[in-house]
Amino acid sequence: MKVLETKKLNKYFEQGNNKNHILKNISLTINSGDFLGIIGPSGSGKTTLLYCLGTLENFEGGDVFLLGRNIKDLNDKQIAKIRNSEIGYVFQFFNLIPNLTAYENVLLASAITKQVNDERIDELLMLVGMEKFKEYYPEQLSGGMQQRIAIARALINGPKILFADEPTGNLDQKKGKEIMELLKKLNKEQGLTIILVTHNEDYISYCNRTINLIDGEIV
Ligand SMILES: Nc1ncnc2c1ncn2[C@@H]1O[C@H](COP(=O)(O)OP(=O)(O)O)[C@@H](O)[C@H]1O
Ligand SMILES: [Mg+2]
Repeated sequence: MKVLETKKLNKYFEQGNNKNHILKNISLTINSGDFLGIIGPSGSGKTTLLYCLGTLENFEGGDVFLLGRNIKDLNDKQIAKIRNSEIGYVFQFFNLIPNLTAYENVLLASAITKQVNDERIDELLMLVGMEKFKEYYPEQLSGGMQQRIAIARALINGPKILFADEPTGNLDQKKGKEIMELLKKLNKEQGLTIILVTHNEDYISYCNRTINLIDGEIV
């Protein structure tokens, strides 16, 4: 089943008097259960593409069909609803709230999605291997552990698709691999569709498909 499809997606950024063509005719299909890697050098448009796919960025040309619906046909409220119920995001910097414990960081996300449920949070912390650290604050945790909490937080709404932008970018090789193992497990065991941006070719092997982006084009 298709969960995401783009047809000739084009994106520009204006800078001064220049209009920079950032994404050029991107057409791709992502199926349920895919673990898609988007690789390419820095500045090639990976983050911009991920954000356009994940409704975090507008685009000018072409179409994006998210879970069967053309994003262009949706109003802000409908898009917010999809974001809150169908999609999760993970970023390079874990963006945890420093004054909240691991448990509370995940709880906060559950409050936003109105799916408050203690057991669900414990289950998620278990899934990411952090059940023993639920009362710890971010500063007491390693980067890899913080990213695990950020992943648990992203999963609170039971998303169909997880968007991850360089989730290992701030971690050493060992911790990076552990995060990739975790994502692979979520993909295999939970059937989570994952779209991952990375510039590290070592991580391609965890994906079941990759596209290579160079200068805004799939090559
Ligand atoms: N908000 C923005 N305004 C103007 N230019 C941007 C903006 N965001 C990204 N860019 C430009 O778009 C290009 C692609 O950026 P990005 O998608 O972040 O690449 P990557 O994630 O592959 O490193 C870069 O040239 C970058 O400078
Ligand atoms: Mg980027």
